[in-house]
Amino acid sequence: MPYSQLAGRTAVVTGAASGMGAATARLLAASGARVALLARRADRIESLAEAITSTGGQAVAVRVDVTDQASITAAANRVHAGFGRADLVVNAAGVMLPNPIDAGRADEWQRMIDTNLSGALRVIAAFTADLIEAAADGGTSDLLNISSIGAHVTFPNYAVYSATKAALTHLSASLRTEFGPRDVRVTNIEPGLTDTELGDHIDNPTLGHGGQLGEFFKAIGPLSADEIADVVAYAASRPRHVNLRQIIVLPTRQA
Ligand SMILES: NC(=O)c1ccc[n+]([C@@H]2O[C@H](COP(=O)([O-])OP(=O)(O)OC[C@H]3O[C@@H](n4cnc5c(N)ncnc54)[C@H](OP(=O)(O)O)[C@@H]3O)[C@@H](O)[C@H]2O)c1
Repeated sequence: MPYSQLAGRTAVVTGAASGMGAATARLLAASGARVALLARRADRIESLAEAITSTGGQAVAVRVDVTDQASITAAANRVHAGFGRADLVVNAAGVMLPNPIDAGRADEWQRMIDTNLSGALRVIAAFTADLIEAAADGGTSDLLNISSIGAHVTFPNYAVYSATKAALTHLSASLRTEFGPRDVRVTNIEPGLTDTELGDHIDNPTLGHGGQLGEFFKAIGPLSADEIADVVAYAASRPRHVNLRQIIVLPTRQA
């Protein structure tokens, strides 16, 4: 369901090539926001931008790798050139690469830290001035970080992923002390099991869709990406003085 309060907002959504980011971008655009779609797969974000514009929405595809500072700087310049100042930033880009800690997968640890934590930080830094200026001009201004229930609940094999999400949740909490007094809302959303491409990159067959993750899907029944997008859009569409600061959204069967 679109949220008409979002009409005229200017959104930046990372992870817009698939899953929650793509669903959020679609819903924000359907609600009347201009939406910059950020991810690495140009074909995906370009076809999503086309789908949005062909139905009367406003979207621009901006290829970015959030692990690369130069790529973020170039992407922020493109967003500013296309749409001007952003007032709604959604950090949805992320990777989840579980393995037992004694597998010693330093490559995966680094990729998760670079994407889920440092990547989110780079995006925040690129748009902080926009968010603060938009709020100072009397507008509604939002930073929404997609963390995970893994920030609180421990799972075997997910130690590093969960650590990156715990760091993101804590970053959101800390940023509120700097952003809140300047009327910029920070919303930290912690989803549970959701049906997206996130598990497709797991390279341990006992943990992927054919193993532990597949069993979770069968036992719990995942949320859809559209259901998470609805939570994002609902939070961003509240009156400017109302901040839904911390949201945990789980399938009813997930403990
Ligand atoms: N699905 C779940 O059960 C679940 C639960 C809790 C939290 N989350 C979190 O939700 C967020 C969204 O994930 P999702 O579930 O929607 O999975 P997804 O479909 O895999 O989406 C992840 C997105 O991040 C982008 N991405 C990955 N690495 C990137 C990079 N280096 N630079 C730019 N973009 C990058 C991907 O696009 P490209 O590959 O094209 O770059 C993709 O669009 C993630 O932060 C995830 O940790 C998911």
